Parts: sequence; structure tokens; C-alpha cells
Amino acid sequence: MTATNDNATVDAASAKTAWRPIHASVVSKRTVNPIRRIVDNLNVVPNAAKPVISLALGDPTVFGNLSTHRTSIEAMEEAMQKPQTHGYAPSIGFEVARAAIAAHHSTPEAPLTSGDVVIASGCSGALDLCITALANEGDEILVPQPGFSLYETLATSKGIGCQYYRLRPEQHWEADLEHMATLITPRTRAIVINNPSNPCGSVYTRAHLLDLLAFCERHQLPIIADEIYCDLVFSGHTFHPMATLTTSVPILAVGGLAKKYLVPGWRLGWILIHDRHQRLQEIRTALNSLSQLIIGANTVVQMALPKILADTPPSFHADTIRLLEKHAELSATCLSGIPGLTVVVPQGAMYMMVGIKPEAFADIPNDLVFTERLMAEESVFCLPGQCFGYPNYFRIVYTAPEDKLREAYDRIRAFVERHRSKC
Ligand SMILES: Cc1ncc(COP(=O)(O)O)c(C=O)c1O
Repeated sequence: MTATNDNATVDAASAKTAWRPIHASVVSKRTVNPIRRIVDNLNVVPNAAKPVISLALGDPTVFGNLSTHRTSIEAMEEAMQKPQTHGYAPSIGFEVARAAIAAHHSTPEAPLTSGDVVIASGCSGALDLCITALANEGDEILVPQPGFSLYETLATSKGIGCQYYRLRPEQHWEADLEHMATLITPRTRAIVINNPSNPCGSVYTRAHLLDLLAFCERHQLPIIADEIYCDLVFSGHTFHPMATLTTSVPILAVGGLAKKYLVPGWRLGWILIHDRHQRLQEIRTALNSLSQLIIGANTVVQMALPKILADTPPSFHADTIRLLEKHAELSATCLSGIPGLTVVVPQGAMYMMVGIKPEAFADIPNDLVFTERLMAEESVFCLPGQCFGYPNYFRIVYTAPEDKLREAYDRIRAFVERHRSKC
């Protein structure tokens, strides 16, 4: 009773005292997702007469037409029954899970053991560990443009600068190496290479990857190879893990379950440390220390991982790729026939960038207005290219069911027709 009275007195006194303001941290204020910054400022109100079709989300599970194989579900159920999964794992991950990842990704050209693997909370967590391990506040990393916006968010939140190297749409979104060379400074610490690419849907040739590796060798820079879309490539193209093409350039290859196994919500990613000449010794220690910040990734998924990687039948991946390739072809065919739009045919992943020629339109000056009005008039939502640092394009995610894609493309055609410059 007395305690209650005392508390009441403290509360009453405190309510009258003016507190010092409670400010948010510098890091939190520097943490900006460019997609949110742009989309939150768009006026995205759909046309109430038409159901919304969103081709904006890079989550392949949202429409329900793509789901993981039952092997993953069974593996999770079995993992839940194991008492070890109810406790903490080592912060870099369970040994069995790291060994399974190493075995799955090891090749004669780029051998791996469990000691070369760090497990993280999603590929996003893996990228965070790599960037933080390699760069200090005031340092710089090179990132692709157009590129996945999280690179910028992670770097700038820590005061690490991003230098954006151009990708060339006319060259299947290959990196412009001449431009890249102009961006190197004494503060450059690493180059992020994303292959297959979000948002471009490109898959680099062996020759281009070798050129990129030669560049990094010349400038003595390690690579953060974002290979989350590894193996999601269409016929006529081959995915080459970057580390299989060099014995010299140190590479932190990041990946995860999210896309290939269609379980982005399970938040399991990893770093593969490829370092034949012990150039990343300090970085190994750094990754270990940084993994302790969140005491490691979810243990149930880690324990399920060996079965998921070993027992998911190849036919599951083949079916996913077949569907994505069919949708990519459909998307390219439907959109390339629309005057005023240009299409770079995707080679893999689940994305496509579509160019807008503002001069072909009477009243659409840029990608922001295009996506805003497309939503307002046709209830079709796509992310404007500016979300990826690339104006006058928009990004399509073509994981939606075929009938929804066809409907969306019919509406885009009608929209473009209405807004075309008539002269
Ligand atoms: C290129 C790229 N890297 C990393 C990620 C993050 O993957 P995760 O969901 O495993 O964090 C994504 C997700 O869309 C991505 O597109």
C-alpha cells in the first residue's frame, strides 16, 4: 500500500518536472531506406474501381503461387523437436549448419570448410557484417547503380560513404569499369558486386566477372559478392560464383535461403570467406566479434539447414526457374511492344528494369510521375527506378501469377496509350 502511494507521488512529481529532450541517436537518423524515402513521398492512391496489382515486392511468396518445398517444412518440424534448438547457438552459427553450407558451396576451384562460414540473420545481416567489418566511418565502398538500396542504407547508417559505379543497360547491365576506376580513392575499402542482380535481372558472363576480378586485383580491393540469387538463371546463361574465378582476390560471398528456397521470412543468410592468401585474417576475427552483437541467427532454421540443403530435390529449383523464366519472357514480350518503354530482357533472378522515354509522353516527365499515375489510374504498382538510384526506369517483379501479370501489362499498355505524346 505504502509502495503504491510512493509511486503515485513520484509519478506526480515527475509529470510536473520538465525533462531534458530524449533525442534519437545519430546512427538512427542516418539510417534511411531510399525506397521508403521515395515511396512515402509518392502519392500512391489506387483507382478504387480496379483491384490493385503490386509488382513491387521482392518477396516471391506474396501471391501464394510460389512456395517452399515440403522438405523445408519437414526439416523445420524436425528441428523444433531437437532440444538444442531451444537454446543459443554459437554466434557465428551451429557447426553442423556451417559445415552443411560449406559442403553445399565448396568447389575444387574455391574450397570451403565450416571455418570459412559465418551464419547471419538473412543475407541482409550478412551484408551488414561484411560492410561493418571492412569499413570505418569516413571510408567508402563501391556499389552498383542501379542497385539494391540496402547497401546504401547499411553503409550510410555507419557513416561509410557509397560511391556508385554505373551499370550499362545497353550492355546487359555490365559494370562500367572505366567509370568504376574514377571512383577509387584512398578511402575505398571494398566493392559490392551483385550477380544475378536486383533490380536488373542480369547474369554476368565469365568474361565480365574476370574483368571485375582483374580490376579488384589491380586496386587491391576485396569483393563483397552478393550472390543471394545464385543459380536463379535462365536458359543460355550460367551462374559463376565469383570465388571460383580467382585464387588471389579475397571475396566475402553472401547468400541465404530467402530466394532460392522461397522462405525470405525465415531470415537465414551466410557469409562464405574465400581467402587463399590469408589477407582476411583480421576480417575473420571482425566478423566473429560482430556476429556477437545479436548473439547469432535463429537456431531452428540453422538446425533445419543441413536437411534443406541436402534433401530439397533439384526438381524444386528447376520448377522455380522454369516459372520465373516463363514470366520473364512474358513480361519482356508484353512490355517491349509498348511504344515509349524500353526493356532489357532479364537473364535471371526475378526482376526486370523497364526504361521510360519521357519525350514519348505528353505529361509524364519522369519515373516518379509514371509510377504514381499508373497507380492512380490503373492500380498497378511498380517501384520507380529512383529507388535504385536510376531515374526514368521502373522495376518489375514478375513473380505474380500469369493472369495477374497479363492484366497488369494490359493496364500499363492502356495507360501509356492515354499519355503518349500525339505529335
Ligand atoms: C540483392 C539482394 N541482396 C540481399 C537481399 C536480402 O536478402 P534477405 O532477405 O536474406 O535478407 C535481397 C533481398 O531482396 C536482395 O535483393
